Amino acid sequence: MTGAEDRSPRSRPRHLLPPGPRLPGIIQLLCETGVNWRYLQLLRRRFGPVFTMTAAFHEPVVVVSSPETARRVFALTRDDFTHANATSSLEGAMDGRSIFFIDRADHQAIRRALAVPFSRRHVAGDAAPLHDLIRRAVAKLPERGPVALVPFGERLATCVVVALIFGGAADDPRNEALADLAVAGLERSGSFLERLSVLVPPLQRLAWLNPYKARHADEAGRFATVIAERVAARRAEGPSADGPVLDRLLLARWSDGRPLDDEEVASQILALIVAGNETTASVVAFAVRWLLMNRPILEALRDALDALGPEPSADALAAVPLLQAVCAETLRLSPPTWSVENRRLRRPLDLGDHVLPAGTRVTVSPVLVGRDAGLYRDPERFDPSRFLALSPPPHEQPAFGGGLRLCPGLWLATLEMRLLLAELVRQRDLTPVRRTRPMRAGLVVVPSHGMPVRARPRVRA
Ligand code: HEM
Repeated sequence: MTGAEDRSPRSRPRHLLPPGPRLPGIIQLLCETGVNWRYLQLLRRRFGPVFTMTAAFHEPVVVVSSPETARRVFALTRDDFTHANATSSLEGAMDGRSIFFIDRADHQAIRRALAVPFSRRHVAGDAAPLHDLIRRAVAKLPERGPVALVPFGERLATCVVVALIFGGAADDPRNEALADLAVAGLERSGSFLERLSVLVPPLQRLAWLNPYKARHADEAGRFATVIAERVAARRAEGPSADGPVLDRLLLARWSDGRPLDDEEVASQILALIVAGNETTASVVAFAVRWLLMNRPILEALRDALDALGPEPSADALAAVPLLQAVCAETLRLSPPTWSVENRRLRRPLDLGDHVLPAGTRVTVSPVLVGRDAGLYRDPERFDPSRFLALSPPPHEQPAFGGGLRLCPGLWLATLEMRLLLAELVRQRDLTPVRRTRPMRAGLVVVPSHGMPVRARPRVRA
């Protein structure tokens, strides 16, 4: 970082930003909405690894797309950047005191509250019940009709996050009922207008267009009420220091020493559920999509899983190198988050060829870093073998972001996607039902139509 802190971020002069496309803002917006990797790749070829996008209704955002520039962004300290909520597309999804829109010591306090329950160790300790839940859910899939993998994975992921937050088993009826309300309240139609509303902040004020407010206002309302009731009940019972996420949030303090009130706790819970429900489902659905397009890899994965015997443990499954590599390769080519965007510079940032002024919104592009030809040979090819002996750092594989805002759900999502993909491949013969393509659903990219497959039970020799 260079220079002194600028406390008026909007004062940044536009001509100081790196070059970018001159297309009308509305066309740039439509290109973003259409999830067109090739458009992004074209921009990178034309302007280099750092370029500015100026989509209509948004302030300009500087896209960073090489491992080296991503590394510099992820190295930013609390004094170097703040969150970017002013015109961020996240704004429609979360409210003002959630983890996404707090800063410095307040942000640190919430991250601290999440650290233990979301840690690698804690998550690994819950692997057996998680595996059991997933195994039973896959066994119950319909044998004939098509199954849409995105909604299926979404409900599972939501049950798991709800259990982590409130305690108890993921298939505890209270947790399941809350997860169902969450899924219904957050459901989207996937219509073009609805997707556009995520990117156009003024449209989010029209309730019927806002995917997070419109679709099922009743369920969303009841969902908020149930969360509020459970938060209040737990506060009355007395939270415990080694309890689930809810207890830790109830015991947390803001930087001024004040505890979070019930609404602020509920706000963190909503953020966790929204952030954790579709992302994991998307990766598993994309992994199946890639495997169906690369049958020999699917067969090799199945053989590796079968070699563990009829009832492998969660640990044994999750440790299969090819399974891990397939998930990593899917995250490289099909990261569910279009951009890692929640950053606004407080101070100028030196990226080598460009010095970005204070106030600039900066986003790392996982899909461009993942397709960086200098980093990955033959980058368009789905080739999990490249990850068999490699575990890349966040700036080379930024699907989970990096630095101070690195996704706290990383370990949970990693274990969950490995186990879900393993059980789908072990238990079922998967065949595609129709052509799918990547599309935006809210803030996340998913295969279109929910990735429908036929999932016949496997007949073993
Ligand atoms: C494959 C699944 C997932 C992917 C690819 C993913 C990706 C991301 C990314 C890219 C970010 C932004 C990081 C940054 O700005 O550097 C993020 C943030 C976040 N994610 Fe995830 N995520 C996943 C699953 C989850 C799960 C399961 C949870 C929790 C249950 C979760 C909770 C969050 C939260 C709370 C943040 C905000 C962190 C902060 O601002 O400090 N995510 N995630």
